[in-house]
Amino acid sequence: MKQYLEQAISLAEMVEGQTGVNPPVGAVIVKEGRIIGMGAHLKKGDKHAEIQAIDMAGQDNVKGATIYVSLEPCSHYGATPPCAARIIETGIQKVVYAARDITLPATGHDMMVEKGIDVYYEPHPRAEQLYAPFFTSKTASLPIVTVKVSASLDGKQATDHDESQWITSKAVKTDVFKLRHMHDAIVTGNGTLTADNPSLTVRTADGRHPARVILTRSGNINWDATLFHDHLAPVYVYTDNTALVSPLEHVNIVQLPNTETETVLHDLYNKGFGRVLIEAGPKLTSQFLASEFISTFILYLAPKIIGGQGKYQYFQTEGVTPLDQLNHFEIVHSEMIDTDMKLLMKRK
Ligand SMILES: NC(=O)c1ccc[n+]([C@@H]2O[C@H](COP(=O)([O-])OP(=O)(O)OC[C@H]3O[C@@H](n4cnc5c(N)ncnc54)[C@H](OP(=O)(O)O)[C@@H]3O)[C@@H](O)[C@H]2O)c1
Repeated sequence: MKQYLEQAISLAEMVEGQTGVNPPVGAVIVKEGRIIGMGAHLKKGDKHAEIQAIDMAGQDNVKGATIYVSLEPCSHYGATPPCAARIIETGIQKVVYAARDITLPATGHDMMVEKGIDVYYEPHPRAEQLYAPFFTSKTASLPIVTVKVSASLDGKQATDHDESQWITSKAVKTDVFKLRHMHDAIVTGNGTLTADNPSLTVRTADGRHPARVILTRSGNINWDATLFHDHLAPVYVYTDNTALVSPLEHVNIVQLPNTETETVLHDLYNKGFGRVLIEAGPKLTSQFLASEFISTFILYLAPKIIGGQGKYQYFQTEGVTPLDQLNHFEIVHSEMIDTDMKLLMKRK
């Protein structure tokens, strides 16, 4: 029944943002018109959703049941054995799933059909929306990237005299905490670290602090900055400067041959950061907005005009791109937050 498949998708949506480089997955097991088990993949390395649901139902009860899964059950040996094999073993009779896993070489679908299970792929738009960025990310070995900017109506992140607090309202800050909570790491530039001394944490009940990542070429880091001393989440300093050493044992210096956006993102993905939020000033923000590696752009706009020469205009490029070659975004959601406007955009 469609409602069970939608419940499996809801379970997956509930854990979106906490599974690192793994997909969020939900599963519901139904027998004789009753839900007998449900589960979600809670974090990388943990049991998969199907296994959680089978465990809840009890191995002896699932024979002849139907399992609804948001994503096609896997058929490969990764950190855990394949879910398709476990489904076969338990005697589940029917499998219904909402998205095909296009990143895997072999499909769980075929494996289960070969063993006589009735397998149905029922594409669902919510599952498609949930997994599209994940598939792109896994294929490229790059995290899912969101860029967040708070700006005035004329696109300024600060005045020409370096004043930036508060352009948008405090209610926006609360929304940003939710955004941070959904990401594994926040990337910022040394300019923001120096100007704002930000914590980059989540100050809401049961919030999860992402790792903090600072980019620098100069290596002129203010080691007294708060985030180096609050011990709330790991801190990484990415640089191509071979002379940079950390005076603080717990701060990780990541020296790369270059710190272009793609190189940094690959390294973050390899460290297990599946979702990355860019919260920086114009220098770094512009590099990400100009790149092809972002999937979401969130712009908070305050109804103010700042003026000046645009020192901190959030998007600046050296060259001028012809209008027919610009990066395009599609506005997929808009809302008022207190007196400000939030625009959620996907890169086209
Ligand atoms: N309203 C907002 O949403 C918002 C958010 C953040 C910041 N801000 C404001 O933005 C202003 C700071 O602007 P900004 O453009 O200087 O900030 P930024 O982009 O955060 O930092 C720029 C610095 O980051 C480092 N960097 C940038 N790209 C790099 C790369 N690819 N590899 C290695 N290092 C890299 C460089 O540091 P080194 O010089 O050390 O090499 C560079 O000078 C402040 O006034 C701050 O308050 C506003």
